[in-house]
Amino acid sequence: MKKSDWWKHAVVYQIYPKSFQDSNGDGIGDLKGIISRLDYLKRLGVNVLWLCPVYQSPMDDGGYDISDYYHIHPMFGDDADMDELIRKADGMGIKILMDLVVNHTSDEHEWFQQALKDPDSKYADYYIFKETADGNPPNNWRSYFGEPAWTRVEGTNRFYLHEFSRKQPDLNWENEALREEIYRMVNYWLDKGLAGFRIDAIGNIKKRLEYETFQPDGEDGLRYIGDWVLNQPGIEVFLQELNERTFRPHNSMTVAEANVPEELLNLFIGEEGFFSMVFDFSYTDIDVPATGEWFRPRDFTVEELRKAIFSSQRMVQEKGWGALYLENHDQNRSVNKYIPEEEIGYHSKTMLASLFFFLRGTPFIYQGQEIGMENIRMASIDDYDDIATRGQYARAMNAGLDKETAFDIVAKRSRDNSRTPMQWDSGKNAGFSSADRTWIRVNPNYKSINAADQEHPDSVLSFYRELIRLRKDSKYSDIIISGEFLPYESEDPCVIAYQRSTAHERLLVIHNFQNRQSAIRLPKGHLKTVTGNFPDNHTQKDTPQRLYRLLPYECIALYMNE
Ligand code: GLC
Ligand code: CA
Repeated sequence: MKKSDWWKHAVVYQIYPKSFQDSNGDGIGDLKGIISRLDYLKRLGVNVLWLCPVYQSPMDDGGYDISDYYHIHPMFGDDADMDELIRKADGMGIKILMDLVVNHTSDEHEWFQQALKDPDSKYADYYIFKETADGNPPNNWRSYFGEPAWTRVEGTNRFYLHEFSRKQPDLNWENEALREEIYRMVNYWLDKGLAGFRIDAIGNIKKRLEYETFQPDGEDGLRYIGDWVLNQPGIEVFLQELNERTFRPHNSMTVAEANVPEELLNLFIGEEGFFSMVFDFSYTDIDVPATGEWFRPRDFTVEELRKAIFSSQRMVQEKGWGALYLENHDQNRSVNKYIPEEEIGYHSKTMLASLFFFLRGTPFIYQGQEIGMENIRMASIDDYDDIATRGQYARAMNAGLDKETAFDIVAKRSRDNSRTPMQWDSGKNAGFSSADRTWIRVNPNYKSINAADQEHPDSVLSFYRELIRLRKDSKYSDIIISGEFLPYESEDPCVIAYQRSTAHERLLVIHNFQNRQSAIRLPKGHLKTVTGNFPDNHTQKDTPQRLYRLLPYECIALYMNE
């Protein structure tokens, strides 16, 4: 492994700052709160933190609408707090990644304000404006949040493009001055000692602009925008330049939010790739259609999930390095997505943890996942803060779903499921805040699911700690980090088993992804148990039949030295 590949050894923890820890009693998480929890993170064993955006922002889309890239939102603290966090974390061996949102800014960003005021200003070309003769929008693209992707500048026939909300105008990467502004800003943060970035919607920066009315694909008369703005030819020029001017000289860790097709993977994550790794959506979005419309949920089987994971692993390992994750701030809680409600518990949660943690790539744990946090169900649509939830709800109604069905479906997939406050203990507001009202509801299940109660060896939290230790700091670290990924044959389609191997070693991990018993044939030779969620069951691995009877939701990792 090259020195520059330090991030292959990382275990990343994603923080949603608004909901992690409130330090001043206003009901909103903040940077000082994160600093106060560094001990917990250190003890968990993670060594990189990714912070969702903490920049100045009107918070139309949870901070993914930035109005000033250089300063911290007062709600989170100030610039000095950010410096302190970087410094303190560094002292504990923990590096920090920020979120880099450069596909769009907030409409309240100075550049956009100038562009609105004066169509001849240089800033007008930082964005994508289009004037139409008849005052109709330039085309019928639908933004990701469900509204038309063009919004009219009041009192004119001039429209601006936004792939996300109308408060997130898209930047025009064709403009060189704009690109220079971005590189300057990225370097400003990297020079401060930031380890790198998670890079938002970066596959969207090149647009293929076409002005006509496209065949609608929904009841709203609009057409999904993705086909014109995702991974468009020419994007590689921008990404190459971005990398050369910023990340590469800093040896940064970069994780691109970009669903990259196989033929482009090499460019993105190959030896000379633009990024350290990319997020793959194939198994986290397995429950929704490619257009991301949650209100048309997709059923899937464990077998399909297995296929998706295996094919992603094989593809990525051939080209470079991957990012592993089951949850993030855009997803619902993984246990609710993958496990039937009645079967959610210690064993299914730890089985899921093992399933993703032993794969090849850098694992990302989303806050609360390590204690098995679950979805929330709020009382009504008005309780949801997330703009995408409201958009999907409106579309579901528009598509003719009745109110209750629309609400059920949208609530299950809402991004707010993962944005509720971290559950630290069984005290007021789960230990998140001393405020009387938190910015978003605390999940009422905090009395039974919280970190403090899991300070014992048989908890989900302890299981995660063990997985992290095995990966980072054990005699299995090498094989877990560098071993080749290989599927392992199982007759039962609900058993997901795979191996990691090096020249002389083999790690076999088996997951019984169902609430029934099953069995799997073990390879010959001496097998050593590495970990598992049913320790009492492990003795049978040494029986002569080589048939291992799996309990419901059992997982076990076995090691062989050949
Ligand atoms: C990314 C973010 C998401 C945000 C969107 C627009 O997908 O993860 O939270 O809404 O980009 O910035
Ligand atoms: Ca606060």
